[in-house]
Amino acid sequence: MKLLVTGGAGFIGSAFVRRRLAATDDEIVVLDKLTYSGNRANLAAVEGDTRLSARFAFVRGDIADAGLVEPLVGAADAVINFAAESHVDRSILDAQAFRHTGVIGVHVLLEAVRHAPRPVRFVQVSTDEVYGALEQGLSREGDPLAPRSPYAAAKAAGELLVESYHITHGLDTVVTRGANTYGPHQHPEKLIPLFITNAIDDQQLPLYGDGLQQRDWLFVDDHADGVGHVLDSGLAGEAYNLTASEPRTNRQVTEAILAGLAKPWSLVRSVPDRPGHDRRYAMDGSKAAALGWQPLIGFDDGLRRTLDWYTANSDWWRALKSDEWDAYYRRQYEERLANSVGA
Ligand code: NAD
Ligand code: DAU
Repeated sequence: MKLLVTGGAGFIGSAFVRRRLAATDDEIVVLDKLTYSGNRANLAAVEGDTRLSARFAFVRGDIADAGLVEPLVGAADAVINFAAESHVDRSILDAQAFRHTGVIGVHVLLEAVRHAPRPVRFVQVSTDEVYGALEQGLSREGDPLAPRSPYAAAKAAGELLVESYHITHGLDTVVTRGANTYGPHQHPEKLIPLFITNAIDDQQLPLYGDGLQQRDWLFVDDHADGVGHVLDSGLAGEAYNLTASEPRTNRQVTEAILAGLAKPWSLVRSVPDRPGHDRRYAMDGSKAAALGWQPLIGFDDGLRRTLDWYTANSDWWRALKSDEWDAYYRRQYEERLANSVGA
């Protein structure tokens, strides 16, 4: 197949590209804007390997640029849309880019698929956050969407556009709703890489509120393979939860990181909470399991691999913790840390 992978220089998209090129004969074009979180270095293993690079091309650009997108979509058998602004905290500071990429960008891609000269499958990579917070039980694919952050609202809006184009225009679409993902190459703004890299440098770890919020932690290779499985086998018009069934509170995650790095709990600071903080996400994974997909990497194994990778690749994350990072970090954490207490 010829695949157009949007957002393929990001964390999960680049894992998909690396793994898909290695496991299949597919040809892949990545379209990526290279925002602060897009990183060409994530594709170095592909671009530096002649066996893989012969079936790979990179285009820098915006999924909301119709003139750029139309010929790329027209040449593809399938579009896998990973492109998004992906950090909840940034969506609270300023949601403009989330609307641009998550709503307008998705719409531009769907229009290009609709007008393509031949059928193109469209995979929308979405998130468990579209269900909103769940006090107990498990979210199923038919449940109503109830997003609570600007990030999650943009993702839900994108999904609704995708579904509408399936129903109204008969597009061949599938949606994946992935759980909280972690692993190598994740931008250090997110909980696990932030706490690993801060702990390596003996910096404080800002734990929001009481730290008892719960997430289901999915290793990045499993998430990437799950998206590939839905691309290959998902039924048109359907959504699939990609879940790890590895629930942990943020405190438990923090303890595991510190234990793995042999660093003290005294680094952890309890800081004022994220506004609208979702307490818990948990999904039922039986629909994707019936399709033949299941995660293979448990949390302890995945976290060990992640700790080892960040320890061995400090050049990668130190390059990201500079320039734009300092202003973001001050805006997000300076006042919080000034108002923090021991955790
Ligand atoms: P990421 O921030 O690491 O990567 C996003 C990529 O999209 C970057 O390479 C960025 O440059 C690119 N991009 C952003 N706006 C663009 C635009 N307008 N045009 C072209 N490219 C653009 O994010 P990630 O963590 O890899 O997430 C990938 C997808 O998976 C997102 O859609 C996200 O909502 C979804 N998701 C993420 C998680 C998670 O825990 N990280 C879980 C479930 C779902
Ligand atoms: O659930 C899937 C989602 O997971 C994805 O759709 C998002 O793209 C991805 O960013 C992630 O969202 P979260 O908000 O759950 O991830 P984050 O790493 O930002 O935070 C995880 C938990 O840790 C959350 O409860 C907030 C908390 N946290 C986070 C940061 C960055 C802290 O306590 N301190 C922090 O500094």
